[in-house]
Formats: sequence, C-alpha cells, structure tokens
Amino acid sequence: MGKYLINTYGCQMNIHESEKVAGILQDYGFEETTEVNDADVIVFNTCCIREGAETKIFSNIGAVKPLKKKNKNLIVAVLGCMTQQKKTAENLKKKFPWIDIIIGTFNSDEFEKYFKKSFEEKQKSFEVFDKEFDIVENTKFFRTSGDNAWVNITYGCNNFCTYCIVPYVRGRERSRRSENIIKECENLVKEGYKQITLLGQNVNSYGNDREDEISFPMLCKKICQIEGDFRLKFMTSHPKDFSSELIDVIASEEKMSKVVHLPCQSGSNKILKLMNRSYTRENYLQRIEELKSKIPYVSLTSDFIVGFPYEEEEDFEQTKDLVEKVQYNSIFAFMYSKRSGTVAEKMENQVDLQVKRRRVNELLALQKEITAKKNEKLVGFVFDCLLQEKKDKKIMVSESGLSISLESYDGIEFSKYYKVAVTSVKGNKISGKIEKRK
Ligand code: 5AD
Ligand code: SF4
Repeated sequence: MGKYLINTYGCQMNIHESEKVAGILQDYGFEETTEVNDADVIVFNTCCIREGAETKIFSNIGAVKPLKKKNKNLIVAVLGCMTQQKKTAENLKKKFPWIDIIIGTFNSDEFEKYFKKSFEEKQKSFEVFDKEFDIVENTKFFRTSGDNAWVNITYGCNNFCTYCIVPYVRGRERSRRSENIIKECENLVKEGYKQITLLGQNVNSYGNDREDEISFPMLCKKICQIEGDFRLKFMTSHPKDFSSELIDVIASEEKMSKVVHLPCQSGSNKILKLMNRSYTRENYLQRIEELKSKIPYVSLTSDFIVGFPYEEEEDFEQTKDLVEKVQYNSIFAFMYSKRSGTVAEKMENQVDLQVKRRRVNELLALQKEITAKKNEKLVGFVFDCLLQEKKDKKIMVSESGLSISLESYDGIEFSKYYKVAVTSVKGNKISGKIEKRK
C-alpha cells in the first residue's frame, strides 16, 4: 500500500485543510507516514503570511527533488496560500518543473480531481483560479488533532489590514450555514471529541454576508446546547467586532472556553490607524476590562507585529505599556514582513531589520516576565484539564495550554475532563491535584 506525507505550514485553517487532503488520500488507500523516504505522495500545504514562511517552504520543496529520481511514482503536490499568488506559483513551476500538482486556495477543494489526474493518468496540473470557491459541504476529514476537532465557520476575509495578504489569497468572507455547522458539531460530540474549535479569519463577523443567518454569539450558544462534555473555542477574533453579547455568552455558557485570543497588533493609535485596524488602544483595553470583569478566570492571548512602517520608539513603548496593562497569559510577536500587493508594501519609512529584531526580543522578554509572575499566582486556581502524552510522559493540560503535573496518574483516563487544582509552582513546573471528577 502507498504512503503519504503532508507538510503543513501556517495557521489552524491550514492544519484543518490538510485533514481534508488526508481524508482524500486515505480514500485512495494511502496510509500516513512521517518518513519522507517512504512516501509515494508528498503534499506541501503552504502559507505566505510572512516572507520567512515562503523562503522555508521553497527550500523544503527543493529538498524533495532527489526523491523524485529514486521513486518514479512519487507524486508531489503544492497547494495553499503561497501558491494562490500567481507570480509565486509561476516561479515555483519554473524552479521545480518536476512538481506534479500546483494549485491555490481557491481550487484546493478540488484537490481530488487534480490528484486523480496525476495518479491515474500521470498528468501534471498547474491551475490557480482568480475567483474564490463556493462552500462545499459534507467533506470527509481525517482528523489529526487528538481530542480537538476543527470546524470551519467562515472562509476569507473582508478587513484588509494594510499589512495582511490573507484577503488576497483567501478571498472575500463567506459564512457556512449555521444548520450545517451545528450538525457537524453534533456529530463530533457523538464521536467523542472533547473540544471543538470554530475557525474563521474573523469569526466575529460570522453571518454578515447572509441576510438570514444568526450572529456569532448566537451560533456559539446553540452549539453549547449540544449535550455532552466538551469545550467550545474559536479563532481568530478581530477586536473591532468583539461584542459585549459575545463576552456575555463566554461568561454564561459553561461549555465556552475561557481562553480568548484577541490579536491587538500594536498598542499605538498611530500604528493601529496605519494598519487599518478600526479600533484604538482605548477601545481595545475597554474590551479587555469587560472580559476580565465578567469572566474571573479568563486567559488572554494576543498577536503583535513590531516594526510596522513608521513605528517609532514611542509607538513601541505604547505596545509594551499595553502588554503590561493587559497581563496576557501568552503572546505571539512577529517582525513586520512586507507582503506583495498589500497597502503597507508601498509605505515609506520601513523599519530596519536590527530594530525589528531588538523590539521583538524585548516584547517577548517582557511577556516572559509577566507569564512567570502570573504563574506564581496560580496556586489555588482550578482548571478543566485533559490527560495528554508529551514526550512519552503523561501530563494534564488545561484549556489555556498550561501543563500541570500530578503525583499519580492512576485511574486518570484520556478524553475525559478533570478539574485540577494547582498546588505549587516552582520555576516552570506547575503541580496540581484532582479536585473533582466531572
Ligand atoms: N508581517 C508580520 N506579521 C504578520 N501577521 C499577519 N501579517 C503579517 C505581516 N505582514 C501576523 C499578525 C496576525 C498573525 C496571524 O500573523 O499578527 O495576527
Ligand atoms: Fe493561514 Fe494566512 Fe498563512 Fe494562509 S497566509 S496559511 S490564511 S496564516
């Protein structure tokens, strides 16, 4: 039997799309392998959010060439955001003419068609569409994220933040019908998944493209009504659409995860404006205050970009000040990367790489201190945790991603929620005990 290997880059959206590709390859009788030399199909599901991602992907694809010589039947497919950019797709084809399939995100739903052509007719495909796809339902996934199941609720993005390439490679925002989403969630809970994560570039604007659809908070509420022991998460949120109604649903619904990822990007109003984010630091901080006051154990995470054009030292200080004020549980910080076709690409006053490097390190060091101080205060807190295996060792993992060690794991089962109280914190090691079985 043949084997396949899928290399996934970028966001959760891509991880889930690779699960779709895996489902198709399994239908053809292929089995998963992690050993590249054993693979008869190698898929690169690509990302282009930052330049670094593209450079790495090009080099990883190049490394596959000798395998093509060794295994005449090897099929190499490249799809996703990077190849949705026509110029990049053409460069790729020129550089690596031995690739069998090159398609973008707008036709990745038709992967099966292209794969069939390659597998049965030994024909190559190079096709990048200009228009986004219509939503396809009843897709079969081969899920790979343990207790968590990803569920798409929207595709595409209408926000056009000036740094971001996503609207160009994912098209306009389209929402799935809520009845289909709810049905999918019901089935997932029946199958035993303990966590459902709703996916969209901006989940908060769910339904805005359909007159007769319910709002995002209402969708969450309906999913929480499904019987069973599971938690509901979502990503990603845009602060401009993060409503009080949604905060109330997170606060009142037991099944809603109390981890909120709310990308801020910058703490400076000048930079937020240049980024076209449509909120100010004051609006953002007010959302955070509301979250903290209504949800006592809320875990907050965020994304930041440093070194955006025109970012001066005082703008960066504003970002650090905001991070101090919010006291996040963790953050992602990225150096601004120029993306072709975006508004910011043409901006003057691009920031030097050394300055970006220093700022990103400074911001991450600041957050590290905050996380350590926050961890010290965890003693006594109770978290919903699932048992996981990490590096062959058992560990309890909270929905906020904290790893908590127990003295004994006797009688603790996988795929079951336990309430774990933190008993001590020593450096990075958080210890706890089972509070109450759910
Ligand atoms: N440069 C650097 N970071 C970026 N992001 C998006 N576009 C860029 C870019 N051009 C970051 C944002 C976003 C996260 C997914 O990636 O912080 O929230
Ligand atoms: Fe995901 Fe954006 Fe990267 Fe595409 S470009 S994979 S949407 S992060």
